[in-house]
Amino acid sequence: MVKICCIGAGYVGGPTMAVIALKCPSIEVAVVDISAARIAAWNGDELPIYEPGLDEVVRQCRGRNLFFSADVERHVSEADIVFVSVNTPTKTRGLGAGKAADLTYWESAARMIADVSKSDKIVVEKSTVPVKTAEAIEKILTHNCNAVNFQVLSNPEFLAEGTAVQDLLRPDRVLIGGRETAAGRKAVDALKDVYARWVPADRIVTTNLWSAELTKLAANAFLAQRISSVNAISALCEATGADVSEVAAAVGMDGRIGPKFLTAGVGFGGSCFQKDILNLVYICERHGLHEPAAYWKQVIEVNDYQKRRFVTRVVSSMFNTVSGKKVAVLGFAFKKDTGDSRETPAIDVCKGLLADGAAVCVYDPQVTEDQIRQDLAAVGEPMRQVGVARDAYEAAGGAHAICILTEWDEFKALDYRRIFDGMQKPAFLFDGRNVVDGGELRRIGFIVYSIGKPLDPWLRGMPAVA
Ligand code: NAD
Ligand code: UDX
Repeated sequence: MVKICCIGAGYVGGPTMAVIALKCPSIEVAVVDISAARIAAWNGDELPIYEPGLDEVVRQCRGRNLFFSADVERHVSEADIVFVSVNTPTKTRGLGAGKAADLTYWESAARMIADVSKSDKIVVEKSTVPVKTAEAIEKILTHNCNAVNFQVLSNPEFLAEGTAVQDLLRPDRVLIGGRETAAGRKAVDALKDVYARWVPADRIVTTNLWSAELTKLAANAFLAQRISSVNAISALCEATGADVSEVAAAVGMDGRIGPKFLTAGVGFGGSCFQKDILNLVYICERHGLHEPAAYWKQVIEVNDYQKRRFVTRVVSSMFNTVSGKKVAVLGFAFKKDTGDSRETPAIDVCKGLLADGAAVCVYDPQVTEDQIRQDLAAVGEPMRQVGVARDAYEAAGGAHAICILTEWDEFKALDYRRIFDGMQKPAFLFDGRNVVDGGELRRIGFIVYSIGKPLDPWLRGMPAVA
């Protein structure tokens, strides 16, 4: 029986291994983590991450051929294939701080693999890493353990949160990069055999190591760039009376452009896009490629601009101050169907509103109160102006304004007449995700701002940019 071990039981390691276990009953899959609490949650009734469909998959496989364990060393030493899916955040200090990927967790995992290995292993980079990381990993492995043969592969993960299970069951492609040697090709084939149990052969792409590593950064940069492009157009729509939804739909009908990932909003968030683009920028700079670095940096700058622009709209529309006013924030997760708030635009928007003196009351169906408070405390916001509500009606009660920051389906179906009746007047609604029907809300009496849509007379002529 082939044994797989995955180091890192996070948003990627957990779902990815659960789907491998589901589709490969003859493979034993162990997911290990240094966080005993996270492992306990994976073994409990409430999984540590919210992901539609994941409960069913885990329930089907756990204890059969899927195991979650804090005994990291034992499972690594017994495995034939070791996936490494640890976090690779942006460095916060030292060389490359604010841009380069922090490979501390990766390096310590690699050293541990070298320490405990007694049999040959395929080591798979699942984490997103800078191009050429495999070379560094090979060095760590071979210099610390010469009795064992290691083959390092790059197998980046393309799943998106909120749709992880579906993305894993039906991936657009699985990418495997390896050394172009006989041993390298053999290792690539062994990993291909795992995916081939459910992924059609023409969707399993093999490349050299550096292409696979770079593809992951490039793919995220391209996706984020589309969002910044449509967000840049949304600002121009507001200035001219065009409607960004109409523009994006018509632009996306061009087969060369395509309709996906053209939804304007309050800015992209999540743990990947910003981190991976900064990483790409850093790599370009290290190679002296300053123009490509500046090009990709601009994707992040437009994203920051979009978040600032939203805050400015809110404050300038409300008589140029939100001081002492209650603002209901509906949605804190970086997108719907996840409880993840890493790099969510809601943090920046709340920070901007709190800085102007607002009392913010947040409601999110999945992000916990502790997490919301922790995220806002981390950006230096005092908690006395922050409330957390159990539902949208409580959040909006007595508020001067509502900001919708995550496109949760339940926000489309709220009783906005009831909400309007309980608010201060004039009642403002700032839709950062274009989820509500602006026309209907205006008929109720709201003053509505929708990103990239023709402006209410109230909002025209007010400063739109910070
Ligand atoms: P995460 O923080 O949710 O999980 C990482 C886990 O690794 C944590 O539980 C941590 O305790 C554990 N860990 C760290 N060092 C360890 C060690 N030495 N031994 C054992 N466990 C260790 O991170 P994530 O969101 O799953 O992301 C993991 C990687 O996958 C990152 O490189 C990320 O860029 C990439 N990625 C993430 C996504 C996503 O949607 N989240 C998608 C594609 C790729
Ligand atoms: C992303 C990539 O999509 C995925 O392939 C990669 O593996 C990890 O990074 P994720 O961050 O989980 O996935 O979610 P994604 O759906 O890409 O959304 C990222 C952010 O962009 C969210 O804040 C989302 O609201 C925003 N977004 C997305 C838009 O503002 N407009 C869009 O059209 C699409």
